Amino acid sequence: MIQHLPSHQSHAAAPLAAVDAATTTATVSAAFDKKQFREVLGTFVTGVTVVTTTDPVGRHYGVTANSFNSVSLDPPLVLWSQSITTSSYPGFRDSGSFAVNILADDQVHISNHFAKSADDKFQHLHYTLGIGNVPLLDGAAATLECTKVAAYPGGDHVVYIGRVERIARHDRRPLVFGGGKYMVAYSHDLGPGWAQPGSSRPASLESIAIAIEAMPGIARRLGDRTLCLAVWGNHGPTALHWEPSAMPVSCHLQPALVMSVTNSATGGAFAAFLPPEITSTFIDEELRQTGQVSGDRRRSFQEDVADFRRRGLARAVESQMTERLHGVTVNAFSAPIHGPDGEMVMALTVIDRATRLHPDWDGQVPKGLVDEAQAISARLRC
Ligand SMILES: Cc1cc2nc3c(=O)[nH]c(=O)nc-3n(C[C@H](O)[C@H](O)[C@H](O)COP(=O)(O)O)c2cc1C
Repeated sequence: MIQHLPSHQSHAAAPLAAVDAATTTATVSAAFDKKQFREVLGTFVTGVTVVTTTDPVGRHYGVTANSFNSVSLDPPLVLWSQSITTSSYPGFRDSGSFAVNILADDQVHISNHFAKSADDKFQHLHYTLGIGNVPLLDGAAATLECTKVAAYPGGDHVVYIGRVERIARHDRRPLVFGGGKYMVAYSHDLGPGWAQPGSSRPASLESIAIAIEAMPGIARRLGDRTLCLAVWGNHGPTALHWEPSAMPVSCHLQPALVMSVTNSATGGAFAAFLPPEITSTFIDEELRQTGQVSGDRRRSFQEDVADFRRRGLARAVESQMTERLHGVTVNAFSAPIHGPDGEMVMALTVIDRATRLHPDWDGQVPKGLVDEAQAISARLRC
């Protein structure tokens, strides 16, 4: 039950039932220490807020708090808890209102700033004054201006309940905090709505995880080969994960490596199996930058791509570009992995020194690679 206190009343007037419940637990010796308790609490990932207030003599206070939570939709109520040992506690105790500033992901410095004691935390900061002259921080993802309606003691903290009087939301990604670290929030799965005309459909995190999990087995079955899982990024074919082999090709095979569209097997697979409106500007630009602007080169590349499409597999044979990068000549094959709607979402590439991987289209390795890529595609359809 929430007791609606006059806003200026301190938490001393809080309901006793709540006090008993909160303090009993403190007298029971816990089977864990403070550090373990903190660590367990840290697994509950939260946003980050700065709660601000202004006391009756007009002094501003602000503290970083991740104890903020919603309580009720109707009436609109929220809570947060404050340590009673902090220097700003009397300021919040004596004030009738507070504002919750939900920080944006570029406000780590603001969070750190308000997590430390200081005489005037608002000096040099941009803010406006809201209800009750409470500071509202510029740049926050959202703000909730509240009237304090209750304060409940809870061990070494006091829990404030606020009735939300005014809200504002800005188009900023919220800052996240968990396990003692700041984090950035991404949706679990970008989902089908992400695709824009002219950009490829992104592979979902789940399908990437499925493919990566399959890679050690595939590398083994193909004869201990180096494998690459790649997606079409905003700069073209981009390596997500390399499955190393006992005989590494070179140390340049790193995640986030952007590969050539016209001179790599992975690039060839994307050129062959993604819609041309996604790849054509990259192909044109790359041919221009590498001085391969002649109609002949363009034609021969398009012929290669048509061949890859027919075979369901792309190939790069001892290309000069890869030789420059790796210091050895390599051969590579790349097969498309298709998503549930049949669109290409990833490329699975096998790459090895030319002395170990024969470029023959009908070899065991390219055939096995196609089968493995199809098996992953089948799993993504389930
Ligand atoms: C991410 C984060 C979350 C925090 N959450 C809370 C909280 O919910 N309640 C609290 O009392 N202190 C919390 N703190 C600590 C306070 O921010 C800190 O004790 C306070 O700002 C000290 O300032 P003061 O001396 O002006 O009160 C948090 C700190 C960080 C970095």
